[in-house]
Amino acid sequence: MTVELAKDLGLSEVYGAFVDNQFKPVKGAVFHATAAATGEHLADIARCGGEDVEAAVLAAERAFPDWKSLQPEQRAAYLHKLADAIESAASRLMMIDTLDIGRGLWETGIDYSIAASQYRYFAAAIVTHEGFGRPIPNGYLVAKREPYGVCGQIIPWNVPAIMAALKIAPAVAAGNTVVIKPDENASLSTLELCKLVAQIFPPGVINVVPGFGEEAGAALTAHPRVAKLAFTGSSEIGRIVSVAGANRLVPVSLELGGKSPNIVFPDVDPVDVDAIVDNVTFASMYCNGQSCLAGTRLFLHDAIYDDFMSKLVASMKRIRIANPTDAGPLLGCLISPKQGRRVQEYIAIGKSQASLVTGGERAVVAGCDAGWFFEPTVFETSNESRLAQEEIFGPVLSVIRWNDYERLIHDANDVRYGLAAGLYTTNMAKALETADRLQAGNVWINNYFNLANGSPFGGFKESGIGSEFCRETLNMYTHLKAITMQGRVNPAWFAPVH
Ligand code: NAI
Ligand code: MG
Repeated sequence: MTVELAKDLGLSEVYGAFVDNQFKPVKGAVFHATAAATGEHLADIARCGGEDVEAAVLAAERAFPDWKSLQPEQRAAYLHKLADAIESAASRLMMIDTLDIGRGLWETGIDYSIAASQYRYFAAAIVTHEGFGRPIPNGYLVAKREPYGVCGQIIPWNVPAIMAALKIAPAVAAGNTVVIKPDENASLSTLELCKLVAQIFPPGVINVVPGFGEEAGAALTAHPRVAKLAFTGSSEIGRIVSVAGANRLVPVSLELGGKSPNIVFPDVDPVDVDAIVDNVTFASMYCNGQSCLAGTRLFLHDAIYDDFMSKLVASMKRIRIANPTDAGPLLGCLISPKQGRRVQEYIAIGKSQASLVTGGERAVVAGCDAGWFFEPTVFETSNESRLAQEEIFGPVLSVIRWNDYERLIHDANDVRYGLAAGLYTTNMAKALETADRLQAGNVWINNYFNLANGSPFGGFKESGIGSEFCRETLNMYTHLKAITMQGRVNPAWFAPVH
């Protein structure tokens, strides 16, 4: 049934590299796009290597001078058209992602509205991204921002539409051209996006090379004509991409993993507790826990611990685990058997080293035999445990009891990551002090997962380098050039000898 659905959705049987607004014929090896929940085959995709990357980079390089020389308003108009096209195609695209990656339609729908609004945000932002200047004797200094050229961008599988938008929108708005490598577990929707791109953009501005990390990914990061690298994914691969950038001395921006604290203070208003429980559940289970921002370490104060915990367990048990194509909020399946086994191993570690509160088992969903579904799982543990220190990327929450504020701050920061943090309190002075002291790029007070356009999104420590989602991102995709102009040539510095 799923395969019929795939046909109804107009998927191609095979996708080659997207270069110069065309899918290249596939000559070499392919890999398969499969439905995460049913294991059914959705399409074949070219396993790109050095040759495809070469063609894509050269196309991007050819397109660069004309694209760069457009006025910001003109580039903005292209981005708005892409946003319009995404909005028109959203119901189809979200179904493609839901089939391919196993997240519920409710979530992939949100992905597309965030993605479309990112294109619009950067369309607007680039128009006001002026340089600066000042008068100098007999002239002027002008400092302007210039795009780097060809950007090599590598994205992961968890929220493909948002990931593509976060990379394409700022880079292209700023006048760069791009070559993107989607993740081998979630390439379909980026390739489908190419069909929209082909109708809107000049050839070569946006190119896509699907394939594996060590092949297409490594070829892209090593390519001598790529002027800027951007990566989202694990900290391990972020390090490899960083080294590739260092070898070529090109700038690298990284958005990596997280193990974010979510802190509940004892003074929370009892009337808010249900909503806080819901926030905590959402923070850890949204995206099936496969989000770098997930609030996976819950610091729960001793004074409210038992009451909160029983409400939290009830909230976790209420979550519907279902076929991702069902309507409404639900827990779908993990991206792949590999990710499923990884989460299973962490749950086993938890069962031997921590105390299981709820969940802990794989779940069976009718008609979705291939899917790796898990019950929402909660462990009580210490901050030092592997469960609390390592990014699991599944529906697993670690709860840590606290009662001493200084120890709380120490523990919340005592982790290699620093992407996000949440905290719940009615004491605004304490909230602000805590926000200042948390080592995280994003602190949410009395809310979680709240990313408005313009909100910097980037990590401290091993969570990354640079900020996406905001105006500052345009600086990441441009370098400064100073031009000084004088009406008259200065008097000679070395006097002529007569
Ligand atoms: P990964 O970091 O291996 O994959 C991310 C991207 O990097 C993919 O497009 C992949 O093809 C590419 N890649 C892999 N090796 C490469 C190389 N040598 N050169 C260039 N590109 C390369 O992530 P993976 O293995 O899928 O997931 C493992 C763990 O990573 C997850 O369990 C999670 O903890 C973390 N992760 C974090 C993400 C985030 O948003 N921060 C997203 C995905 C994974
Ligand atoms: Mg898939």
